[in-house]
Amino acid sequence: MALQWVDVTSEGELAPGEFQVLELDEIVVAVFNLEGVYYAIEDICTHDSEELTGGPIDGDQIICPRHGARFCIRTGKALSAPAYEPVRTFATRVQDGMVQVQLDTE
Ligand code: FES
Repeated sequence: MALQWVDVTSEGELAPGEFQVLELDEIVVAVFNLEGVYYAIEDICTHDSEELTGGPIDGDQIICPRHGARFCIRTGKALSAPAYEPVRTFATRVQDGMVQVQLDTE
């Protein structure tokens, strides 16, 4: 396993308020543009493994579509029951016009 920067999309393709999902080595990552800053979280609810990006986004929070737990997109923190564990977060950066996320790859 090694940390590696992986391309998500070009900067112009991910407008504020939008997200993109990337699947790599069995990790599913959702990368969000929140007012021009990129954040990446694992796209799996820590309550019962639902895909978080199927739910609504409310400011910097995403709401699990299954039982309504809220997570902070910036920090991964679980903000409401029934989830108590944070979702995994990943570092992001923009390099040569590409939005990138840092992942552990094999
Ligand atoms: S699976 Fe997300 S709140 Fe239950």
